[in-house]
Amino acid sequence: MLSTKPITPRFGSEITSDFQLADCSELEISELLTLSANRGVLVFRDQTLTPSEHAALAHRLGEPLTFPLNSNGIPEELITIASGPKTREAAGEGWHSDVSSESRPPSLSILKMATVPESGGDTLFADMSQAFELLSDPLKAFLQPLTARHEPRGHYLFLSGAQAFDALETSDHPVVRVHPINGKKSLYVNDGFVTRINGLAPRESQSLLKLLYDHIAYTVKTHCRVQWRPNTVVFWDNRSVQHHAAFDYHPEIRLGYRATLRGEQPIPSQNNL
Ligand code: SIN
Repeated sequence: MLSTKPITPRFGSEITSDFQLADCSELEISELLTLSANRGVLVFRDQTLTPSEHAALAHRLGEPLTFPLNSNGIPEELITIASGPKTREAAGEGWHSDVSSESRPPSLSILKMATVPESGGDTLFADMSQAFELLSDPLKAFLQPLTARHEPRGHYLFLSGAQAFDALETSDHPVVRVHPINGKKSLYVNDGFVTRINGLAPRESQSLLKLLYDHIAYTVKTHCRVQWRPNTVVFWDNRSVQHHAAFDYHPEIRLGYRATLRGEQPIPSQNNL
């Protein structure tokens, strides 16, 4: 069994075992799936994982989404996350859940950082299960039957020019979803992809989304923060976690590769508890 150290009491863990993701057993794969569902964010230091081992790991953990424009031998299962002196806006700034516009939006993202700035470039994470838990009972009851429209405006295939906006899926997902592994409810609206809450008047939808996004951004006890080092790998579970990359290191270079696994169609909450 892997040993871990919590990042905060309820959210995020660092793996402290002497452990290489490139060599993990079937038992460890299933342990990692459960652990990432329960802790939301997992941090692994000093990983030797090469790009092709990273792609192979993604297949062992699930079904990776692909990126057709890779060059330099980077496998199609990996998306390059790169910023440097010419970058004006870095990928992943702003709270979001990866490509939630997909009809089966991602479960895990698996990001390995190869080059990191001298300081800064952290990724912040927010626990959507605690964010839901901390809402008042009347608001929880109001939100649970609702769905929201997720459009691909922040999709890596759209932003990279690989696909037209209209060629990508737009999906309606429950505002509160149930995790398939641990049954926990999570708030599932994010500023990167959601354009409206269905069934509400435009002003109602805008105001409610603003309230929820403020709750997510300001409730810092639901957050944790990862400081990258070269060869750090982080897993996060997009079903119950949002993240925000801090672009505070310009003009330095930050370079990493992310595998993103297709999840299931989000499970709506069946009751108002
Ligand atoms: C992302 O996957 O949104 C980028 C995360 C990061 O660069 O830290």
